[in-house]
Amino acid sequence: MTRSVKLGDGLALPLIGFGTWRLRSKTAYESVRAALDIGYRHVDTATLYKNESEVGRAVKDSGVDREQVFITTKLRPSDARHARRALESSLRQLGTGYVDLWLVHWPPGRDELVQAWEELLSAQDEGLARNVGVSNHSPAQIDLLTEATGRRPAVNQIPWSPAQHDPALLEEHRRRGVVVEGYSGLKNTDLRHPVLTEIAQRHGVTTAQVVLRWHLEHDIVILPRSSRRERIAANFDLEGFDLTPEDVAAIDAFGRTG
Ligand SMILES: NC(=O)c1ccc[n+]([C@@H]2O[C@H](COP(=O)([O-])OP(=O)(O)OC[C@H]3O[C@@H](n4cnc5c(N)ncnc54)[C@H](OP(=O)(O)O)[C@@H]3O)[C@@H](O)[C@H]2O)c1
Repeated sequence: MTRSVKLGDGLALPLIGFGTWRLRSKTAYESVRAALDIGYRHVDTATLYKNESEVGRAVKDSGVDREQVFITTKLRPSDARHARRALESSLRQLGTGYVDLWLVHWPPGRDELVQAWEELLSAQDEGLARNVGVSNHSPAQIDLLTEATGRRPAVNQIPWSPAQHDPALLEEHRRRGVVVEGYSGLKNTDLRHPVLTEIAQRHGVTTAQVVLRWHLEHDIVILPRSSRRERIAANFDLEGFDLTPEDVAAIDAFGRTG
């Protein structure tokens, strides 16, 4: 089973996506191929990652239908004034006529914030991006975009990990109907933490799997990145065990102490 959340246009966003930051060239291609082979159907890239062509080639060569893979890319803030051109370049590199989700990678300067968002909305209207959203934006910035255009971002991609757990921030997004995608959940966690180790041993899994499953318990989209096939597989294998409510609460508490 692959958990997903429905976006505004009815498209299903799989809760487990494959992260590709820092994966370049052959490693990017091979890692994405491995991820698709293992069963991932959501890949997260960005113009900044300089791997869109490898991601596109991996999707093509995988034999999985383009329609079955949810592809996200992101606009560099420095391209805010040339957003349309930047998207055309991303589509060319990815070898596809549309992306499933296009995000503003970081908020551009205040003058360009709304302008960039309007560019994303036009791309959506033209069918070049099925959904549009933001990354690293605050709820106040999201409100600004929504008030200026009458259309809210589908997603906000932000850092999330046990130590950064913030139920109030999660609720702020839920109230606005904005899906939270959490990034760097593994990198920002001490995977040898005794609380995680105890939980992992009890369930016969790794601490990385515990951390990722904990995100899913909160319906937060995860984007684990690895260049090692066995880890790519383990990070996708999160349904063979259940965290107890006490496990989830113990990990939630990292956000207050960590
Ligand atoms: N929007 C943004 O501004 C933004 C910022 C950062 C990230 N992101 C997105 O989110 C994705 C994930 O974040 P991230 O790449 O920063 O970090 P991450 O996925 O949290 O962590 C990646 C690191 O964890 C290691 N790792 C992966 N699986 C593991 C496992 N099962 N056990 C132990 N270690 C494991 C990897 O090493 P190995 O490769 O050696 O396995 C790598 O060093 C990115 O790739 C990107 O797509 C977005």
